[in-house]
Amino acid sequence: MAGSKDFLTVADWPAEELRALLERARELKDLDKRGERPQTLLGRTMALYFEKPSLRTHVTFEAGMTQLGGHAILLRPEQVGIGSRETPADVARGLSRWVDALTCRTFSHELLEEIAQHSTIPVINALTDRFHPCQIIADLQTVAERADLDRAVLAYVGDGNNVAASLTLAVSILGMELRVATPDTHRVAPEVCAQAATLAEASGAKILYTADPVEAVRGADFVYTDTWTSMGQEDEKAERKKIFAAYQVNTRLLEHAPEAWVLHCLPAYRELEISSSVLDGERSIVWDQAENRLHSQKAILERLILGPF
Ligand code: CP
Ligand code: NVA
Repeated sequence: MAGSKDFLTVADWPAEELRALLERARELKDLDKRGERPQTLLGRTMALYFEKPSLRTHVTFEAGMTQLGGHAILLRPEQVGIGSRETPADVARGLSRWVDALTCRTFSHELLEEIAQHSTIPVINALTDRFHPCQIIADLQTVAERADLDRAVLAYVGDGNNVAASLTLAVSILGMELRVATPDTHRVAPEVCAQAATLAEASGAKILYTADPVEAVRGADFVYTDTWTSMGQEDEKAERKKIFAAYQVNTRLLEHAPEAWVLHCLPAYRELEISSSVLDGERSIVWDQAENRLHSQKAILERLILGPF
């Protein structure tokens, strides 16, 4: 199965493509450490469209294009007026005539799909309400730096959100092991669990869903968390703080996973989903994870703009 022209969800690409992407990300990081920046995207342009705030995704995509010899243009919603000044389809048609790729962070995943459907250039999901696929490629690169992907036991604790959904799909495609601890009211979306179950049948992936964070992290090699309140859910913040109170990743929880490395996609809300003692502690690899956004996205850009490796 060949990968899609776009990267809207990790499930767009089969296991061998995801593995090739991770290998290229590792290679690009090694080259960068040696001061080498291959100019593979010389003269190429990418448009970046962000409806929500971003530090990591914006900076790493823009810096990534520059490092590969290309250029990125940041578009703000008020400049473009999708849905008010022009339809999503017309914006997609115009951009397809001028630039080589389009990366979008939209609230609605359906809007991203509509833009992709009307684009002839590759469209990359920079986070929607449902998925955050680019994040997961960096996360897996970070895991692979410390463990064998085929043997690593991952635990995710917190909200069954866009990050949890993408992680679940990636694990199910790659045949890995993941335990997901969320409150019953905030589980990973049922359609994602169903898709993951089908993918896991083919790959041999093991995925456990539980409401018990201790059951999820016991003996795990990696413990991952994300904010309890995603962008767009700010009105629910106080309520979510109560719902997720038992899901904080702290030193007490990590007593059940003493060897675990700790992951967080960032931004972190200290003393909510993660304690500062853990975030700043010796098991935390969140800054490697953040760095890998840069290298993994360069691999994604090459793969989409230039074609399969
Ligand atoms: N992890 C992540 O996507 O961070 P930003 O929201 O800052 O891009
Ligand atoms: N789940 C978070 C991820 C931020 C990178 C959000 O959607 O806001």
